[in-house]
Order: sequence, then structure tokens, then C-alpha cells
Amino acid sequence: MHYSVPVSNKIHWIGVNDRRKRLFENLWPLERGVSYNSFLIVDEKTALVDTIDGTAVGNYIERIEQLLNGRPLDYLIVNHMEPDHSGEVKAIIDRFKGVKLVGNVKTFKIVEAYWGITEGLIDVEDGRTLDLGYHKLKFLMTPWVHWPETMMTYDTTDQILFTGDAFGSFGAFEGGIFDDELDPLYFEDEARRYYSNIVGKYSNMVQKAIAKLEGIPVRTIAPTHGPVWRSNPTIIMDWYNRWSRFEAAKGAVIIFASMYGNTEDIADYLARRLCENGVRNIRVFDVSKTHISYLISEIWKFNGLVLGSCAYNSQMFPLMEQLTHELLHIGLKSKHLALFGSYSWNGGGVKNLAKFAGESELNLVSEPLEIYGKPTPQKLKPFDTLAETLAHKILE
Ligand SMILES: Cc1cc2nc3c(=O)[nH]c(=O)nc-3n(C[C@H](O)[C@H](O)[C@H](O)COP(=O)(O)O)c2cc1C
Ligand SMILES: [Fe+2]
Ligand SMILES: [Fe+2]
Repeated sequence: MHYSVPVSNKIHWIGVNDRRKRLFENLWPLERGVSYNSFLIVDEKTALVDTIDGTAVGNYIERIEQLLNGRPLDYLIVNHMEPDHSGEVKAIIDRFKGVKLVGNVKTFKIVEAYWGITEGLIDVEDGRTLDLGYHKLKFLMTPWVHWPETMMTYDTTDQILFTGDAFGSFGAFEGGIFDDELDPLYFEDEARRYYSNIVGKYSNMVQKAIAKLEGIPVRTIAPTHGPVWRSNPTIIMDWYNRWSRFEAAKGAVIIFASMYGNTEDIADYLARRLCENGVRNIRVFDVSKTHISYLISEIWKFNGLVLGSCAYNSQMFPLMEQLTHELLHIGLKSKHLALFGSYSWNGGGVKNLAKFAGESELNLVSEPLEIYGKPTPQKLKPFDTLAETLAHKILE
């Protein structure tokens, strides 16, 4: 990157865009890329808040040197140790001699595990402060959003909250960095995909973190990924609050697993019947075609979920199995669930979907339905009642 951007008095955004990495955490597709946000405070004392991913370095260090203009770097505050933010910690320590790492006990366990570093550490507990001169920082422990050591740094002077991954979003910057320089709605889907896949499992800890922020005046939310929210920080705070409470819009996500089209035909039939019963937001996905991260994000968005699978060697279709496994893993809650499938020997798809429902915290609205062989109008009849029941639940 060839620019740094002033965020507030003496505070600079010095992040980078990453459009090269195909998979975040080597798992989640980054079709719109991602940003790693890092912030430099050049006050009486100087402090860097988080670094960037080691694969996207570019001229990161040179930009810091430019802004420091010959002055030493006093502190490196580590809100989160995941390598997409700690990638340059070691390089910073090597380059800026005497810099002190600021973190908590759990941060420093990982610091030692990564680099064997045990000295030059400032261990902050909840509520501890650090005086930089004009800026007076305060540290808030917000563990498990989404790692054990995660914390936030609050600048009490300009009321800027450096939140780490909390309130973060996928999507590289396309010119605009602040919420008032871009269309926040353009980032909503990528923010939700980031939230649901990366942080969603820890929704209860996000709720705890949000509760902790109550009463703290926040003018700017500065996360480690995606827009810096300085004009309307409540937008991203409201999104995260809703998502971590599993609040969803009225609608149904229908995801089917189908080799030869029978199960897909049932999905289409159900979608039509849901529509006739008044549901207006209906999304139909082929589990073989859409990456699971988008499926999970759509599931998070709506209050109704319908899963359909053909039978596959006495099981459900492998990719549906993966999806249901992931939904259990992240502890998805508060959805009205309906299940269906198709078979031609002795089944296996729906039986295992039902098992999944039993293990989940989802609300199965009625008995799963399964069609033997090809769907016909007669075989599809029971789906009318299923659609009616589900639509009623979704819209109530
Ligand atoms: C590889 C493979 C494995 C299957 N395993 C089972 C099975 O274990 N039990 C069963 O009843 N049907 C099984 N079937 C039959 C399909 O589940 C059945 O034809 C179903 O209607 C296919 O739905 P689809 O058209 O949506 O792919 C299998 C079919 C294939 C191709
Ligand atoms: Fe992270
Ligand atoms: Fe991150």
C-alpha cells in the first residue's frame, strides 16, 4: 500500500488489502479479498495497535518508519494473536529495538509458544490503562472473540475502540476505508459471512463483550478487518448484536443435496408451496455448488431452514453431512427446521438428517418427509402440509 490514512488526532490507519489469498485460514474463500487493519499512534509515546498477516507485508514497515520519522516505537499492543494480525510482531520487535509488547497473560503464552519471547512484555489486566500523552488507552478483556486471549483497546481521549476481530468483515477496501466513504450495505453480506463462519461459534462471548461495552462512549469502531466505523458505529454494533443473539429475518433457506434431481425437485416444490403460504424471502441452494461459508451466512440471515438429502450409501450425501456437522459445531440455534429427502433402496439420508436435528438446538417443525423413487404429485402431497406448518412458524 502506498498510503496511510489519518483516523483521528495522531492515529493512522496503516493496514493492507489482501486480494491474493484464496482461502482465509486456508478454509474460507475470499472472493472480495480481506483487509488487515493496523493502527499507529504517534503521540508523546508511540504505539502500534496490532500488525498484519505475514504474507501481505509489502512496505508495511517502511510506512511505520515514515510516520515515526526517526522516533522509537514504544509499544506494540497485541489485541489478538492469530497470525493474520501477529504476522509482523516478530519483525517489529527485531526492527524497533526496545519496543514493549502489550497484552495479557494468555497473549504472552502464545507469544512464547510462537517465538520463545518472554521479555519486554507489559501484562495488562482488565481496566488497566496506558498513558501515551494525548491519548490515554484502556484495555478491556474480551476473551474468546474468537481466541482465548482476545482483548480490546479503548482510546478514552478520542473514544476510539480498537476491537480486534470483533465487528470485523471480509472484503478488501475498494478505495473507501471509513463507513462514510463507502456503502455499508455493500459490506453487510461479507460482514455476516465473516461473523457466522469465524466468530459465530462464540456468540455468547460476543454478547458478553457487547454487554461490557455498555455505557462506554464509542465514537469510532476500529476492527482488524473491514471498514472503520467512524460516522455510524452503531450499524456494525447492531449487526453483531443481532447475529450473536441469533436474531434473523423472516425467510427460508432451502439447501438440497441431489445427484440426479429427485431431491432437487422436492426442494423446488417446497419453495413454491412456502411462497404460496406467504413466505417472501426464500433462498434455494445446491449444497454441491455453493461454498459452505455462504450457506452458513445465509442460514444466519433467516429464521427458517430446510435441509434435504438423497440417500448415499446409507448416509446423507457427504456434503450435506459436512454442512450438518458444521452447524452442530458452531451451535446454530433459533431456527425453524424442516427436513426431507429421497431414496430408492433402504434410505439413509433423512434418517441421518433427523439424527442431526435431535443433536441440534433447532426447532424441528414436523416429522421429516422422504420420497421413495421419483416424486409425483401424489407423493408430494404431504409436503403441502409441511410447507404450511413451516410458513406459519416463519411468519408468526
Ligand atoms: C452412490 C449412490 C449411493 C446411494 N445410496 C443409497 C442408500 O444407501 N440408500 C438408498 O435408499 N438409496 C441410495 N441411493 C439411491 C438414491 O438415494 C436415490 O436414487 C435418490 O432418489 C437419489 O436422489 P437424487 O435424484 O436427488 O440424487 C444411492 C444412489 C447412489 C448413486
Ligand atoms: Fe482471528
Ligand atoms: Fe482476524
